[in-house]
Amino acid sequence: MKALLRTFRYLKPYLLMSVASLLVLLISTAGNLAIPAVSQYVIDAGISQRQPSVLLRGGLMMVGIALIRALFSFLQGHLSAKVSQGVAYDLRNQLYEKIQRLSFSYHDQSQTGQLLTRVTSDVELIHTFLGSALLQSLGAVAMLVGSLALMIVISLRTALVLLALAPVAVGVFALFFMKARPLFTEAQRRLEALNIALQENLVGVRVVRAFVRRAFEMDRFAARNEAVMAIQLKVGRIIAFAIPIIFLIANLATLGVTWVGGIQVINERMTIGALVALSNYILMAIFPVFMLSFLLANMAQAAAGAQRIFEILDAHIEIQDEPDARPLAEVRGRVTFDQVGFRYFEHQPWILQEIDFEAPPGHKVALLGATGSGKSTITNLIPRFYDATRGRVLIDGHDVREIALDSLRRQVGIVLQETLLFTGTIRENITFGRPDATIDEVIAVAKAAQAHDFISVLPEGYEAPVGERGVNLSGGQKQRLAIARALLVDPRILIMDDAMSNVDYQTETKLQRALNHLMAGRTSFIIAQRVSTVRDADLILVLEAGEIAARGQHAQLLETSPIYAELYYTQLEGAEATREGIFIYDHDELSETELESEAPS
Ligand SMILES: Nc1ncnc2c1ncn2[C@@H]1O[C@H](COP(=O)(O)OP(=O)(O)OP(=O)(O)O)[C@@H](O)[C@H]1O
Ligand SMILES: [Mg+2]
Repeated sequence: MKALLRTFRYLKPYLLMSVASLLVLLISTAGNLAIPAVSQYVIDAGISQRQPSVLLRGGLMMVGIALIRALFSFLQGHLSAKVSQGVAYDLRNQLYEKIQRLSFSYHDQSQTGQLLTRVTSDVELIHTFLGSALLQSLGAVAMLVGSLALMIVISLRTALVLLALAPVAVGVFALFFMKARPLFTEAQRRLEALNIALQENLVGVRVVRAFVRRAFEMDRFAARNEAVMAIQLKVGRIIAFAIPIIFLIANLATLGVTWVGGIQVINERMTIGALVALSNYILMAIFPVFMLSFLLANMAQAAAGAQRIFEILDAHIEIQDEPDARPLAEVRGRVTFDQVGFRYFEHQPWILQEIDFEAPPGHKVALLGATGSGKSTITNLIPRFYDATRGRVLIDGHDVREIALDSLRRQVGIVLQETLLFTGTIRENITFGRPDATIDEVIAVAKAAQAHDFISVLPEGYEAPVGERGVNLSGGQKQRLAIARALLVDPRILIMDDAMSNVDYQTETKLQRALNHLMAGRTSFIIAQRVSTVRDADLILVLEAGEIAARGQHAQLLETSPIYAELYYTQLEGAEATREGIFIYDHDELSETELESEAPS
């Protein structure tokens, strides 16, 4: 409930409207409460006294009240929608902003489907709560209190009849609340599970098909879907069960009042009009009780949603600017790892140990090593995707933790190991880091990245749309776009994580030549599987299980490092074979076959 109270803070910008909405609600409740009083007046002063003019006046009063009520209920609906939509809007923006700033380590541990559910459906719960549940509850309480008070005013004795029924009503209310509450929470949890299954399968639709898992995944989805349905049916059953009971209680109450009140009417201690009004107030008092139990269960659900939302909003951002962080203007590009040790989680094995090297500005550093040896992890420390657990990473002698994050990352161009493109055109994807780039600049980097050729044969060229995650391009084409994207930001430090793994030997050679030219004067980190890619590097680091097993330049390493020599000679044989293979085709034929095989199936 604390979480729910905290959502009230979000009402602050809409305070005036919220208060107005509450006032309007109270007025329309008062209107509702006035109706039985008017009918009492009509019966006692009009019908009993045979005064048609009273009937007319009473009728007009009712129409007037109905009109006012209609107007105010419109106003109330409008105001509360404005308030609650405003809060939902603010919450969604805040959540998104926070998710954008949360560190990689947070994202490592959370499921995308879960985050999605929170930004959409949990926010929706808060919206419903603030927009209707909260006001309806206040309205219900006002109605309950108002009708009870009016009943006491009309006849204390008959009102006491209700007191006898109160324990029953409250009992049913409590029972319903207790039964419904866990169901609502469970329903939300199951919906989240359904969303996660849906999201994963949509993202992995190709894998699902390729491994003929469609039937299995369908069953899994159907099972979760069924679980959602089952719980909703259960909720429905409880409501269906509660409604007749509420009616029964209402009927019993009416019976009691009619009986006790009837005797009083016979004894002429009460008028017929008062009796009629009383039985109306009875209903007005009982239904809010039922409403409240329903609304309270709803509130519990909203509270759970609020808790999940605040969990994100309160999550600690591990990587953020220190209070005294300074922007780094133009870096020269000296990158130093000073005795760096790293692990992703506390109490887990070290992933990197004693990584110690220096790359002077303009140098090309190559990282080589078996899969899982920590190559990507090393490069992740430079733009502070993660912070070193021990030791320091320095750029131009400044600890990266003392540099303002944005200014640090702006100097680092990165081609990630997993290429991800966004929905939009090819040009938009290349200019992702610098939306203001001219088309000439775009073409220049695309040429360097060996992407221009395949882009210009597309019917729409640079304006060709790239689908969600870039599915309509081949792996190698996507990689080359990612390289162009990184080059365009004109970084002082370039990181290419396995950026040429999907590119054929010939293209790679061309790409390297272009890059060497382009990267002159910039520091670059190249992670590669092929020794040929890194042969000309100024510094080659051979990693083994998170440690630098050997370092140096190609010729030197060939002599001093058995691991490196073995890597080189086994790959050399492979490369010779490939080169013979290439020889069969002439140049143009090759690029055509290459394009064909790269076309989506
Ligand atoms: N986000 C992460 N959370 C926890 N552990 C991770 C994470 N990323 C990588 N690891 C672990 O860190 C170790 C090094 O991974 P890293 O990605 O740096 O290897 P790599 O050398 O880049 O391998 P590859 O050549 O396959 O890309 C691996 O044992 C891996 O399981
Ligand atoms: Mg890697």
